[in-house]
Amino acid sequence: MIDDVLLGYAASAAELIARYESISAEQLYAPVADLLPQPPSRIADIGAGTGRDAAWLADKGHHVVAIEPVAEFRRAGMLLHASPSLEWLDDRLPELRGLRALKTGIDCMLLSAVWQHLDDQQRRAALHTIAILTAPGARVIMSLRHGAGAPGRIIIEAPPERTIADAASAGFELMRRRETQSAQPINRQSGVHWTWLVFQHR
Ligand SMILES: C[S@@+](CC[C@H](N)C(=O)[O-])C[C@H]1O[C@@H](n2cnc3c(N)ncnc32)[C@H](O)[C@@H]1O
Repeated sequence: MIDDVLLGYAASAAELIARYESISAEQLYAPVADLLPQPPSRIADIGAGTGRDAAWLADKGHHVVAIEPVAEFRRAGMLLHASPSLEWLDDRLPELRGLRALKTGIDCMLLSAVWQHLDDQQRRAALHTIAILTAPGARVIMSLRHGAGAPGRIIIEAPPERTIADAASAGFELMRRRETQSAQPINRQSGVHWTWLVFQHR
């Protein structure tokens, strides 16, 4: 299923690159921005898309690894957001084999609008991977999509309570939960809304 989703993103990449770049990282992260770590921290943005948020954080003085399995997004991101503080990695959930091979500690993991593409088993596996990659005190910030998906990019609803329970089993304590509207007008019109969750590795 993950392969089909990634092919769906690649097929629509030209349109999506423009849409992702039209979103303000600052506005998107407003509900949780105060819980981002202080710079300089090492941040992994998983499912980074065009690297819009990764570049915003690199500009603030963080070192950011933008993890993105779709080559079209990585190429666009490297051109749009070249920065010595921004590293690109072709890797994917739930295993994140490439990130694990780097053997580097991560202070904060971002998963903006990616969780909906994993099933329950993959989500639990992903949380286990994230626990291995982070030390106690590290943060995990994720957004859960509610509402219809786009054709060709299958989504599986992630009930926040289940994600919170799975995260607790993996060693993560909930710090914040916020409900928000979609940042993209096209998604707002079709009733898409989001739950932001912030966890701390116990
Ligand atoms: C809706 S886009 C969000 C992009 C970006 N995080 C943002 O907020 O604009 C979802 C992204 O997750 C990536 N993705 C999908 N499945 C993934 C997986 N299993 N592991 C890592 N990234 C994945 C897609 O390629 C796409 O870039």
